[in-house]
Amino acid sequence: MNEIDNARPPASRRIDGKALAAAIRAELKRAVQNADFCPGLAVVRVGDDAASQSYVAAKIRACAEVGFASRHIALCAEAGEQALLDEIEALNRDEAIHGILVQLPLPPGFDETRVISAIDPAKDADGFHPLNVGRLLIGLDAPIPCTPKGILRLLDSEGVALKGKRAVVIGRSNIVGKPIAQLLCARDATVTICHSKTRDLADEVRRADIIVAAVGRAGFVRPEWIKPGAIIIDVGINRNGTGKIVGDVAPECFERAEAMTPVPGGVGPMTVAMLLENTWELARRNSNPLQRGAD
Ligand code: GUN
Repeated sequence: MNEIDNARPPASRRIDGKALAAAIRAELKRAVQNADFCPGLAVVRVGDDAASQSYVAAKIRACAEVGFASRHIALCAEAGEQALLDEIEALNRDEAIHGILVQLPLPPGFDETRVISAIDPAKDADGFHPLNVGRLLIGLDAPIPCTPKGILRLLDSEGVALKGKRAVVIGRSNIVGKPIAQLLCARDATVTICHSKTRDLADEVRRADIIVAAVGRAGFVRPEWIKPGAIIIDVGINRNGTGKIVGDVAPECFERAEAMTPVPGGVGPMTVAMLLENTWELARRNSNPLQRGAD
């Protein structure tokens, strides 16, 4: 028997993000039916990135499912940054819109920080506005970025205690790596952020009770890096050589883990559910009841 077989925990669990996200959407749908306002989300997409098109379509579909009003604004890259800023300004003024999301990444030449900063912080459905990023960092109330919020919800649904645990986050993006590291730290985990220049990544991961992989490379995390009984959250959505959607974590890691999210069906659906939840929360705070039924 090799070392990997010896280390196998009694039974690994698959963390079902698809089911949890469906339950959250059902709860939101009920809440909307009983509310005297209709949450409105605007999703802005620029260019023709195929992955962004499918993510945005999923967000718009989810709005329809739960009874939110939604607006999908698609600009061609040639329209330029000023046209995008003008759209955001109009959405900031639009009382039927409570949440605004600009799908990232933007095409080359667009200044993402300038664009995100143009969103009214009170309509920032992603929690990416610098003001909200700062508020979250110092523990003030702010919209929590959707993917990290979904990860915490998955960990909580599994009853994973975070206090004192060693968490390793692989990836330091503004969308996932930095905010999830911050949120895990706020929940009393001891957090290490690893990235492309980390010297001995395998050794860092081997120490982790909780692993969050957000690198964007298929099968990057190897089974021999996994401490038996670790919890693995796979944020990756990659296409392998045959066009199949796969995560950042090699599937064999599942055998070593206490619990692991699948791809697809793990973090992805939770990101969309948390976007709906953020929009609901923004609408609850900022809506005018007379807007019920507004498009
Ligand atoms: N691109 C990848 N994930 C996200 C996200 O959560 N929000 C936005 N706006 N763009 C993304």
